[in-house]
Amino acid sequence: MLKRLILIVVATLFFALQLNVGNAAALEVDKSIRTVPLNEAGDTIVLSNKQVAQGERLWINNCTKCHLQGKTKTNPNIGLSLYELAGAQPPRDNLEGLVDYIENPTTYDGEIDLDLLHPNTTRSDVFPELRNLSQEDEEALAGYMLVAPKLDPRWGGTIYN
Ligand code: HEC
Repeated sequence: MLKRLILIVVATLFFALQLNVGNAAALEVDKSIRTVPLNEAGDTIVLSNKQVAQGERLWINNCTKCHLQGKTKTNPNIGLSLYELAGAQPPRDNLEGLVDYIENPTTYDGEIDLDLLHPNTTRSDVFPELRNLSQEDEEALAGYMLVAPKLDPRWGGTIYN
């Protein structure tokens, strides 16, 4: 009888622990962190926790192979810190600017189309892995890229610093 009771207690504790781990895995961040620039005009937008989590998932699945921690493995000069994004042409340090990059990537100076070289949703014949990204997915992904620098002080820059 006692043995059975102990077993039940242990099982309950184990289950409770599992639930806790499950909750911790979902990214819950403060509203101030979820508030990001929307456009060049200076408007802002508040993302939901769900959007941030969705963006993080898309980011990990599609972008970290080259951009782990907001750095750029294959071109260390062009990182994804807010400072670096702000210096791009057009500026990419806002949600609309990043959605535009996900659809129509260009070089840092904005001069050359990278639609055949950088993953994007417009040429899904060349980048089929992004074929199923909806407009909402693009916004969540862009939003996460503006939240991530606030969560990780080492976000962006080069792999050398
Ligand atoms: C195969 C490697 C690779 C993958 C995968 C990749 N990128 Fe890039 N990304 C690059 C390179 C290289 C550059 C620099 C391009 C240039 O020369 O201007 C870059 C630049 C960028 C920039 C411009 C940064 C700035 O400071 O202006 C953004 C934004 C960006 N990538 C977003 C993404 C997103 C979002 C994904 C995932 C959907 C992604 N990238 C996946 C290689 C990659």
